[in-house]
Amino acid sequence: MTDAASRALAAAAAAPADIAAAAAALEAGALVAFPTETVYGLGADAENPAAVAKIYAAKGRPQDHPVIVHVAPGADIDYWTSEVPDAARALVQHFWPGPLTLILKRNTHIPDAVSGGQDTVGIRCPSHPVAMQLLQAFKGGKGGVAAPSANKFGNVSPTTAQHVRDEFHDEVGQGNVIDSVLDGGSSQVGIESTILDLSRLATHGPVLLRPGHISAQQIADVIGVMPRQPDQAAPRASGTLESHYAPKAPVALLPTGDIEKTLAQLKLQGRCAALIHYTPFPGAHPNVALPAEPKGYAYGVYAALRAMDQQQVELILVEAPPTGDAWLGVNDRLRRAAFGSTGIIERFLKT
Ligand code: TXA
Ligand code: MG
Repeated sequence: MTDAASRALAAAAAAPADIAAAAAALEAGALVAFPTETVYGLGADAENPAAVAKIYAAKGRPQDHPVIVHVAPGADIDYWTSEVPDAARALVQHFWPGPLTLILKRNTHIPDAVSGGQDTVGIRCPSHPVAMQLLQAFKGGKGGVAAPSANKFGNVSPTTAQHVRDEFHDEVGQGNVIDSVLDGGSSQVGIESTILDLSRLATHGPVLLRPGHISAQQIADVIGVMPRQPDQAAPRASGTLESHYAPKAPVALLPTGDIEKTLAQLKLQGRCAALIHYTPFPGAHPNVALPAEPKGYAYGVYAALRAMDQQQVELILVEAPPTGDAWLGVNDRLRRAAFGSTGIIERFLKT
Protein backbone atom coordinates (compact mmCIF):
# COMPACT_ATOMS: atom_id res chain seq x y z
CA MET A 1 0.00 0.00 0.00
CA THR A 2 1.24 3.53 -0.73
CA ASP A 3 1.73 6.07 2.11
CA ALA A 4 -1.14 8.13 0.77
CA ALA A 5 -3.32 5.02 0.75
CA SER A 6 -2.48 4.10 4.34
CA ARG A 7 -3.23 7.65 5.47
CA ALA A 8 -6.57 7.51 3.67
CA LEU A 9 -7.34 4.21 5.31
CA ALA A 10 -6.44 5.48 8.75
CA ALA A 11 -8.87 8.33 8.18
CA ALA A 12 -11.56 5.92 7.00
CA ALA A 13 -14.31 5.77 9.50
CA ALA A 14 -17.94 4.85 9.29
CA ALA A 15 -19.86 4.96 12.54
CA PRO A 16 -21.28 1.61 13.69
CA ALA A 17 -24.76 3.17 13.55
CA ASP A 18 -24.25 4.06 9.88
CA ILE A 19 -23.12 0.52 9.10
CA ALA A 20 -26.14 -0.97 10.88
CA ALA A 21 -28.49 1.42 9.06
CA ALA A 22 -26.88 0.63 5.72
CA ALA A 23 -27.16 -3.13 6.33
CA ALA A 24 -30.83 -2.70 7.26
CA ALA A 25 -31.45 -0.63 4.12
CA LEU A 26 -29.88 -3.38 2.00
CA GLU A 27 -32.00 -6.00 3.74
CA ALA A 28 -35.06 -3.89 2.95
CA GLY A 29 -34.20 -3.92 -0.75
CA ALA A 30 -32.63 -0.46 -1.03
CA LEU A 31 -29.35 0.55 -2.68
CA VAL A 32 -26.31 1.59 -0.61
CA ALA A 33 -22.99 2.87 -1.93
CA PHE A 34 -19.97 1.71 0.03
CA PRO A 35 -16.17 1.88 -0.13
CA THR A 36 -14.04 -1.05 -1.18
CA GLU A 37 -10.26 -1.14 -1.44
CA THR A 38 -10.54 -0.93 -5.26
CA VAL A 39 -13.32 1.56 -5.98
CA TYR A 40 -16.70 2.44 -4.43
CA GLY A 41 -19.51 -0.01 -5.12
CA LEU A 42 -23.26 0.50 -5.55
CA GLY A 43 -24.74 -2.37 -3.58
CA ALA A 44 -28.00 -4.31 -3.41
CA ASP A 45 -29.04 -7.62 -1.86
CA ALA A 46 -27.76 -10.12 -4.44
CA GLU A 47 -30.65 -12.48 -3.69
CA ASN A 48 -33.33 -9.86 -4.27
CA PRO A 49 -33.88 -9.45 -8.03
CA ALA A 50 -36.00 -6.31 -7.58
CA ALA A 51 -33.17 -4.69 -5.59
CA VAL A 52 -30.59 -5.73 -8.18
CA ALA A 53 -32.80 -4.25 -10.91
CA LYS A 54 -32.51 -0.89 -9.14
CA ILE A 55 -28.73 -0.96 -9.66
CA TYR A 56 -29.16 -1.35 -13.41
CA ALA A 57 -31.69 1.47 -13.51
CA ALA A 58 -29.54 3.80 -11.41
CA LYS A 59 -26.42 3.17 -13.48
CA GLY A 60 -28.12 3.06 -16.87
CA ARG A 61 -26.39 -0.27 -17.35
CA PRO A 62 -27.51 -2.86 -19.92
CA GLN A 63 -29.46 -5.75 -18.32
CA ASP A 64 -27.18 -8.46 -19.67
CA HIS A 65 -24.05 -7.20 -17.89
CA PRO A 66 -23.40 -9.27 -14.79
CA VAL A 67 -22.48 -7.75 -11.41
CA ILE A 68 -20.02 -8.98 -8.80
CA VAL A 69 -21.34 -10.49 -5.58
CA HIS A 70 -19.42 -9.26 -2.51
CA VAL A 71 -19.23 -11.56 0.49
CA ALA A 72 -17.94 -11.30 4.06
CA PRO A 73 -14.61 -12.83 5.11
CA GLY A 74 -15.05 -16.54 5.74
CA ALA A 75 -18.27 -16.71 3.69
CA ASP A 76 -19.32 -20.07 2.31
CA ILE A 77 -18.54 -19.84 -1.41
CA ASP A 78 -20.26 -23.17 -2.05
CA TYR A 79 -23.53 -21.41 -1.23
CA TRP A 80 -23.10 -19.19 -4.31
CA THR A 81 -21.44 -21.59 -6.69
CA SER A 82 -22.07 -25.09 -7.95
CA GLU A 83 -18.49 -26.09 -8.67
CA VAL A 84 -15.41 -24.85 -6.86
CA PRO A 85 -12.15 -26.09 -8.35
CA ASP A 86 -9.15 -26.49 -6.04
CA ALA A 87 -7.50 -23.55 -7.79
CA ALA A 88 -10.36 -21.31 -6.67
CA ARG A 89 -10.06 -22.45 -3.06
CA ALA A 90 -6.32 -21.84 -3.12
CA LEU A 91 -6.80 -18.31 -4.50
CA VAL A 92 -9.49 -17.52 -1.94
CA GLN A 93 -7.20 -18.73 0.80
CA HIS A 94 -4.33 -16.63 -0.52
CA PHE A 95 -5.90 -13.39 -1.71
CA TRP A 96 -9.20 -12.87 0.16
CA PRO A 97 -10.09 -10.48 1.53
CA GLY A 98 -8.62 -8.59 -1.40
CA PRO A 99 -8.99 -7.26 -4.94
CA LEU A 100 -9.55 -10.55 -6.78
CA THR A 101 -12.90 -11.52 -8.34
CA LEU A 102 -13.46 -15.15 -9.31
CA ILE A 103 -15.95 -16.21 -11.96
CA LEU A 104 -17.38 -19.60 -11.07
CA LYS A 105 -20.41 -21.71 -12.02
CA ARG A 106 -23.48 -20.21 -10.38
CA ASN A 107 -25.54 -22.23 -7.91
CA THR A 108 -29.09 -22.89 -9.14
CA HIS A 109 -30.84 -20.91 -6.38
CA ILE A 110 -28.86 -17.71 -7.11
CA PRO A 111 -31.02 -15.33 -9.14
CA ASP A 112 -30.26 -14.81 -12.83
CA ALA A 113 -30.33 -11.07 -12.22
CA VAL A 114 -26.80 -10.93 -10.76
CA SER A 115 -25.20 -12.60 -13.71
CA GLY A 116 -27.15 -11.12 -16.59
CA GLY A 117 -28.50 -14.57 -17.41
CA GLN A 118 -25.10 -16.29 -17.64
CA ASP A 119 -24.63 -19.57 -15.77
CA THR A 120 -21.75 -18.15 -13.75
CA VAL A 121 -21.32 -15.78 -10.84
CA GLY A 122 -18.57 -13.27 -10.10
CA ILE A 123 -17.68 -13.30 -6.42
CA ARG A 124 -15.21 -11.43 -4.26
CA CYS A 125 -14.47 -10.59 -0.65
CA PRO A 126 -13.27 -6.97 -0.38
CA SER A 127 -10.67 -5.97 2.22
CA HIS A 128 -11.76 -2.41 2.98
CA PRO A 129 -12.68 -2.32 6.69
CA VAL A 130 -15.97 -0.53 6.06
CA ALA A 131 -16.95 -3.02 3.34
CA MET A 132 -16.09 -5.93 5.63
CA GLN A 133 -18.11 -4.42 8.49
CA LEU A 134 -21.07 -3.86 6.19
CA LEU A 135 -20.92 -7.40 4.81
CA GLN A 136 -20.65 -8.82 8.31
CA ALA A 137 -23.67 -6.81 9.48
CA PHE A 138 -25.77 -7.62 6.38
CA LYS A 139 -27.82 -10.82 7.01
CA GLY A 140 -25.40 -11.71 9.80
CA GLY A 141 -22.51 -12.16 7.36
CA LYS A 142 -24.38 -14.78 5.34
CA GLY A 143 -25.64 -12.55 2.54
CA GLY A 144 -24.08 -11.32 -0.66
CA VAL A 145 -24.07 -7.74 -1.87
CA ALA A 146 -24.24 -7.35 -5.64
CA ALA A 147 -22.22 -4.26 -6.49
CA PRO A 148 -20.81 -2.76 -9.65
CA SER A 149 -18.71 0.37 -9.39
CA ALA A 150 -20.87 3.28 -8.16
CA ASN A 151 -20.82 5.35 -11.36
CA LYS A 152 -23.11 5.86 -14.32
CA PHE A 153 -22.46 3.25 -17.01
CA GLY A 154 -19.22 3.86 -18.93
CA ASN A 155 -17.94 6.62 -16.61
CA VAL A 156 -14.82 6.74 -14.47
CA SER A 157 -15.17 4.62 -11.31
CA PRO A 158 -15.43 6.53 -8.01
CA THR A 159 -12.64 6.26 -5.43
CA THR A 160 -14.16 8.58 -2.81
CA ALA A 161 -17.63 9.07 -1.32
CA GLN A 162 -17.69 12.54 -2.87
CA HIS A 163 -17.13 11.03 -6.33
CA VAL A 164 -20.24 8.89 -5.78
CA ARG A 165 -22.27 11.92 -4.76
CA ASP A 166 -20.96 13.78 -7.82
CA GLU A 167 -22.18 10.93 -10.04
CA PHE A 168 -25.65 10.61 -8.55
CA HIS A 169 -26.36 14.09 -7.12
CA ASP A 170 -29.93 14.22 -5.81
CA GLU A 171 -30.50 10.51 -6.34
CA VAL A 172 -28.75 10.03 -2.97
CA GLY A 173 -30.55 10.16 0.39
CA GLN A 174 -33.22 8.28 2.32
CA GLY A 175 -36.26 7.67 0.16
CA ASN A 176 -34.23 8.27 -3.01
CA VAL A 177 -32.73 5.77 -5.45
CA ILE A 178 -29.59 5.39 -3.32
CA ASP A 179 -30.37 5.23 0.40
CA SER A 180 -26.92 6.30 1.59
CA VAL A 181 -23.22 6.54 0.76
CA LEU A 182 -20.91 5.10 3.42
CA ASP A 183 -17.70 7.13 3.61
CA GLY A 184 -14.49 5.14 3.95
CA GLY A 185 -11.95 7.65 2.66
CA SER A 186 -10.07 7.08 -0.59
CA SER A 187 -10.03 3.53 -1.98
CA GLN A 188 -6.51 2.24 -1.35
CA VAL A 189 -6.00 0.40 -4.65
CA GLY A 190 -7.79 2.83 -6.95
CA ILE A 191 -8.62 0.57 -9.92
CA GLU A 192 -11.10 -2.29 -10.08
CA SER A 193 -10.38 -5.85 -9.00
CA THR A 194 -8.55 -8.39 -11.11
CA ILE A 195 -11.16 -10.73 -12.64
CA LEU A 196 -10.23 -14.36 -13.17
CA ASP A 197 -12.58 -16.77 -14.93
CA LEU A 198 -12.36 -20.28 -13.48
CA SER A 199 -15.79 -21.37 -14.72
CA ARG A 200 -14.41 -23.23 -17.74
CA LEU A 201 -11.20 -24.44 -16.18
CA ALA A 202 -11.23 -27.94 -17.66
CA THR A 203 -11.59 -26.73 -21.24
CA HIS A 204 -10.07 -23.24 -21.24
CA GLY A 205 -7.80 -23.05 -18.21
CA PRO A 206 -7.81 -19.91 -16.04
CA VAL A 207 -8.64 -16.75 -18.04
CA LEU A 208 -7.78 -13.21 -16.95
CA LEU A 209 -10.84 -11.13 -17.87
CA ARG A 210 -9.61 -7.87 -16.34
CA PRO A 211 -6.08 -7.06 -15.13
CA GLY A 212 -5.74 -5.37 -11.74
CA HIS A 213 -3.67 -5.01 -8.61
CA ILE A 214 -3.24 -8.78 -8.28
CA SER A 215 -1.18 -9.77 -11.29
CA ALA A 216 -1.31 -12.84 -13.53
CA GLN A 217 2.09 -13.81 -12.17
CA GLN A 218 0.89 -13.66 -8.55
CA ILE A 219 -2.05 -15.89 -9.55
CA ALA A 220 0.29 -18.30 -11.34
CA ASP A 221 2.50 -18.46 -8.24
CA VAL A 222 -0.49 -19.79 -6.27
CA ILE A 223 -2.15 -22.13 -8.78
CA GLY A 224 0.84 -23.18 -10.84
CA VAL A 225 -0.71 -22.12 -14.17
CA MET A 226 -0.37 -18.76 -15.92
CA PRO A 227 -3.83 -17.31 -16.73
CA ARG A 228 -4.57 -16.76 -20.41
CA GLN A 229 -5.92 -13.63 -22.08
CA PRO A 230 -9.62 -13.82 -22.99
CA ASP A 231 -10.73 -15.02 -26.43
CA GLN A 232 -13.98 -14.38 -28.31
CA ALA A 233 -15.91 -16.99 -26.34
CA ALA A 234 -15.02 -15.50 -22.96
CA PRO A 235 -17.92 -14.36 -20.79
CA ARG A 236 -19.11 -10.78 -21.18
CA ALA A 237 -17.58 -8.24 -18.84
CA SER A 238 -18.46 -4.58 -19.25
CA GLY A 239 -15.03 -3.69 -17.93
CA THR A 240 -13.78 -5.38 -21.09
CA LEU A 241 -15.77 -3.14 -23.43
CA GLU A 242 -13.48 -1.12 -25.68
CA SER A 243 -14.80 2.15 -24.32
CA HIS A 244 -15.22 2.35 -20.56
CA TYR A 245 -13.90 4.20 -17.52
CA ALA A 246 -14.08 7.39 -19.59
CA PRO A 247 -14.20 10.97 -18.34
CA LYS A 248 -16.32 13.57 -20.17
CA ALA A 249 -13.39 15.22 -21.94
CA PRO A 250 -11.64 13.13 -24.61
CA VAL A 251 -8.45 11.42 -23.47
CA ALA A 252 -5.30 11.07 -25.59
CA LEU A 253 -2.33 8.95 -24.56
CA LEU A 254 1.03 10.37 -25.64
CA PRO A 255 4.64 9.22 -25.38
CA THR A 256 6.71 11.33 -22.97
CA GLY A 257 8.78 12.79 -25.81
CA ASP A 258 5.74 14.27 -27.61
CA ILE A 259 4.17 16.06 -24.69
CA GLU A 260 5.90 19.42 -24.62
CA LYS A 261 5.51 20.00 -28.33
CA THR A 262 1.84 18.98 -28.31
CA LEU A 263 1.02 21.18 -25.32
CA ALA A 264 2.66 24.14 -27.05
CA GLN A 265 0.77 23.53 -30.31
CA LEU A 266 -2.56 23.21 -28.52
CA LYS A 267 -1.88 26.40 -26.58
CA LEU A 268 -1.18 28.28 -29.81
CA GLN A 269 -4.61 27.22 -31.05
CA GLY A 270 -6.17 28.52 -27.83
CA ARG A 271 -7.11 25.00 -26.76
CA CYS A 272 -7.50 24.15 -23.07
CA ALA A 273 -5.71 20.85 -22.63
CA ALA A 274 -4.82 19.31 -19.28
CA LEU A 275 -1.95 16.94 -18.59
CA ILE A 276 -1.76 13.87 -16.38
CA HIS A 277 1.88 12.91 -16.08
CA TYR A 278 4.48 11.10 -14.00
CA THR A 279 7.67 12.80 -15.21
CA PRO A 280 8.02 16.49 -14.34
CA PHE A 281 6.70 19.04 -16.89
CA PRO A 282 7.19 22.32 -15.05
CA GLY A 283 5.20 24.47 -17.49
CA ALA A 284 2.14 22.27 -17.78
CA HIS A 285 -1.16 23.62 -16.46
CA PRO A 286 -3.75 22.45 -15.59
CA ASN A 287 -2.02 19.24 -14.65
CA VAL A 288 -1.93 16.39 -12.16
CA ALA A 289 1.38 14.69 -11.40
CA LEU A 290 1.03 11.04 -10.40
CA PRO A 291 3.72 8.83 -8.84
CA ALA A 292 6.07 7.12 -11.29
CA GLU A 293 5.29 3.68 -9.86
CA PRO A 294 2.24 1.60 -10.68
CA LYS A 295 0.58 1.29 -7.25
CA GLY A 296 0.71 4.99 -6.49
CA TYR A 297 -0.35 5.79 -10.05
CA ALA A 298 -3.38 3.47 -9.83
CA TYR A 299 -4.31 5.03 -6.50
CA GLY A 300 -4.55 8.49 -8.06
CA VAL A 301 -5.54 8.00 -11.68
CA TYR A 302 -9.35 8.08 -11.45
CA ALA A 303 -9.34 11.08 -9.12
CA ALA A 304 -7.02 12.82 -11.60
CA LEU A 305 -9.38 12.17 -14.53
CA ARG A 306 -12.30 13.45 -12.48
CA ALA A 307 -10.39 16.54 -11.37
CA MET A 308 -9.68 17.42 -15.01
CA ASP A 309 -13.38 17.08 -15.88
CA GLN A 310 -14.26 19.40 -13.01
CA GLN A 311 -11.98 22.04 -14.51
CA GLN A 312 -13.94 21.57 -17.74
CA VAL A 313 -10.89 21.15 -19.94
CA GLU A 314 -11.41 20.32 -23.61
CA LEU A 315 -8.87 17.55 -23.81
CA ILE A 316 -6.96 15.39 -21.32
CA LEU A 317 -3.47 14.45 -22.41
CA VAL A 318 -2.06 11.48 -20.53
CA GLU A 319 1.63 10.72 -20.56
CA ALA A 320 1.58 7.04 -21.57
CA PRO A 321 2.79 5.01 -18.57
CA PRO A 322 5.57 2.47 -18.95
CA THR A 323 4.59 -0.94 -20.25
CA GLY A 324 5.31 -4.12 -18.31
CA ASP A 325 3.36 -6.40 -16.04
CA ALA A 326 3.03 -4.14 -13.04
CA TRP A 327 1.45 -1.41 -15.21
CA LEU A 328 -1.05 -3.69 -16.96
CA GLY A 329 -4.09 -2.66 -14.92
CA VAL A 330 -3.41 1.05 -15.31
CA ASN A 331 -2.68 0.79 -19.04
CA ASP A 332 -5.83 -1.27 -19.58
CA ARG A 333 -8.04 1.41 -17.94
CA LEU A 334 -6.33 4.30 -19.74
CA ARG A 335 -6.64 2.58 -23.11
CA ARG A 336 -10.39 2.19 -22.59
CA ALA A 337 -10.73 5.76 -21.31
CA ALA A 338 -9.03 6.93 -24.52
CA PHE A 339 -10.98 4.65 -26.84
CA GLY A 340 -12.81 6.60 -29.51
CA SER A 341 -10.45 9.57 -29.20
CA THR A 342 -8.07 8.42 -31.93
CA GLY A 343 -6.94 11.42 -33.98
CA ILE A 344 -8.36 13.88 -31.46
CA ILE A 345 -5.18 15.96 -31.19
CA GLU A 346 -4.97 16.37 -34.96
CA ARG A 347 -8.62 17.42 -35.04
CA PHE A 348 -8.03 19.98 -32.28
CA LEU A 349 -5.04 21.40 -34.11
CA LYS A 350 -6.87 21.70 -37.42
CA THR A 351 -9.98 23.53 -36.27
O1 TXA B 1 -13.19 -3.81 -7.88
C1 TXA B 1 -14.27 -4.16 -8.34
O2 TXA B 1 -14.44 -5.22 -8.92
C2 TXA B 1 -15.45 -3.20 -8.16
C3 TXA B 1 -15.79 -3.13 -6.66
C4 TXA B 1 -17.04 -2.32 -6.38
O3 TXA B 1 -15.87 -4.40 -6.13
N1 TXA B 1 -16.58 -3.61 -8.91
C5 TXA B 1 -16.62 -3.50 -10.24
O4 TXA B 1 -17.84 -3.85 -10.75
O5 TXA B 1 -15.71 -3.10 -10.93
P1 TXA B 1 -18.29 -3.55 -12.23
O6 TXA B 1 -19.68 -4.06 -12.33
O7 TXA B 1 -18.10 -2.11 -12.54
O8 TXA B 1 -17.39 -4.46 -13.06
C6 TXA B 1 -17.49 -5.83 -12.83
C7 TXA B 1 -17.05 -6.60 -13.99
C8 TXA B 1 -17.87 -6.30 -15.20
O9 TXA B 1 -16.98 -6.15 -16.28
C9 TXA B 1 -18.73 -7.54 -15.31
O10 TXA B 1 -19.15 -7.76 -16.61
C10 TXA B 1 -17.79 -8.61 -14.76
O11 TXA B 1 -17.19 -7.96 -13.69
N2 TXA B 1 -18.53 -9.77 -14.26
C11 TXA B 1 -19.29 -9.87 -13.16
N3 TXA B 1 -19.85 -11.09 -13.07
C12 TXA B 1 -19.44 -11.78 -14.15
C13 TXA B 1 -19.69 -13.09 -14.67
N4 TXA B 1 -20.50 -13.92 -14.05
N5 TXA B 1 -19.08 -13.43 -15.81
C14 TXA B 1 -18.27 -12.56 -16.46
N6 TXA B 1 -17.99 -11.32 -16.03
C15 TXA B 1 -18.57 -10.94 -14.90
MG1 MG C 1 -17.63 -0.37 -13.52
